[in-house]
Amino acid sequence: MSDPQGATLLAQASVPAKAILFGEHAVVYGRPAIALPVPQLQVTAIVRPDEGSLKVDSRYAGANGPRMAAVDLATAGPTEPLAAAARAALRHAGRTERTPWRVSLESSIPAGRGLGSSAAVAVAVVTAVGRAAEPEEAWGPQTIAELALEAERCVHGQASGIDTAVCAHAAPIYFQQGQARPLLLGCPLTLLIADSGLRGSTAEMVAGVRARQAEHPHTYAEWFDRVGRLADDAVRALAEGSPRWLGQLMNVNHLALQAMHVSTPQLDQLVAAARHAGAWGAKLTGSGGGGAVIALVDDETLAAVSAALSAAGAVSVLPLSIPPSG
Ligand code: MEV
Repeated sequence: MSDPQGATLLAQASVPAKAILFGEHAVVYGRPAIALPVPQLQVTAIVRPDEGSLKVDSRYAGANGPRMAAVDLATAGPTEPLAAAARAALRHAGRTERTPWRVSLESSIPAGRGLGSSAAVAVAVVTAVGRAAEPEEAWGPQTIAELALEAERCVHGQASGIDTAVCAHAAPIYFQQGQARPLLLGCPLTLLIADSGLRGSTAEMVAGVRARQAEHPHTYAEWFDRVGRLADDAVRALAEGSPRWLGQLMNVNHLALQAMHVSTPQLDQLVAAARHAGAWGAKLTGSGGGGAVIALVDDETLAAVSAALSAAGAVSVLPLSIPPSG
C-alpha cells in the first residue's frame, strides 16, 4: 500500500465522532446509556515506516483552531493519551515501543464539544496500529474500545467507556458497564447536533458530578436510576419507531442533566429554541458545561429547527440521519 506521494503505507483507519442520545454521566455509575456515531466528523490515522521508536503526529481541530501534537514513545510519560493508545495497541500485538513506525492523525472533530474527539483519536490510533501489527487478524470493536479506554482514562479520569465503544463500533449502541450491544431501530432517525461554540471539559464535569453525588448520594442515585430507566424506555421507543415518545424521553433526560448541574444557560437556550421550533425533543449531549445539544426532528421540522438553533447562537448545526435496522 502507498499514499499519493509514493510513501509506503502500513495501515490506516477512519473513526467517526459520537453523540450520546441518553444517559451521559449516569453511565459512569453503571446505568445504561445510548450512543450514536456521527460519521460526518472523523479522525483518520495512517501508519508509515519510520526509524527508532513509534511516534504519533496529530493535527486536530482544537477549540481555538487546528493544533499539532507530536509524541515519541521513547520520551512520552505514562499519562500522555496518544502514547497510551499506541502503547496499548503495541502491547496487545506483542510488540515493543521500539517499533519503527510513525502514526499521522488528521481530525475534523472539534475538541471539547462532547462529540468524542479524544475517544475517536484513541480508537483510530489503536485500530491503525493493530492493523499494521497484525494485518491478517482484524481486532474486534470490544477489544479496540477497551485498549483505547486506557488513553481516555488519561484525558477524562473516570471514563465509563461509552465513547470509545461507540467510536469503535461505528454503529448505534446500548452500553452498560463496559458492554455494548447494537440497537434495533424501527424507523429512520433525523437529528440535529448544534454546537454551542463553547468548550466544556469532560474531566471537570465528571469530577463535579462525583463531588456532588458524594455530598448527596441518595438524590444522585435516584437521578441516575431515572436516567437509566429513560435509556431502557428509549430502547423500546427506538424499536417501535416512535419519535414522539423518544422526544419526550430526551426532554426528561435534559431535565435530569440540569438537576445534576451540567447544563449551561447557552445549552438550555438551544434546547428551548429547538423544541419551540417543532423538534420532538432536545437535550444536551456529552458531558455538558459547554459543548453541543442534540435535537430529534423530522423532514417537516428539520429546516425550521436548524434555523432556530443558529438564531439561538449555535456556531454549527449538523444533520445526522440514522437508517432503520436491517
Ligand atoms: C462523555 O461523553 C460521557 C460521560 O458520561 C463520561 C463517560 O461516560 O465517560 C459524561
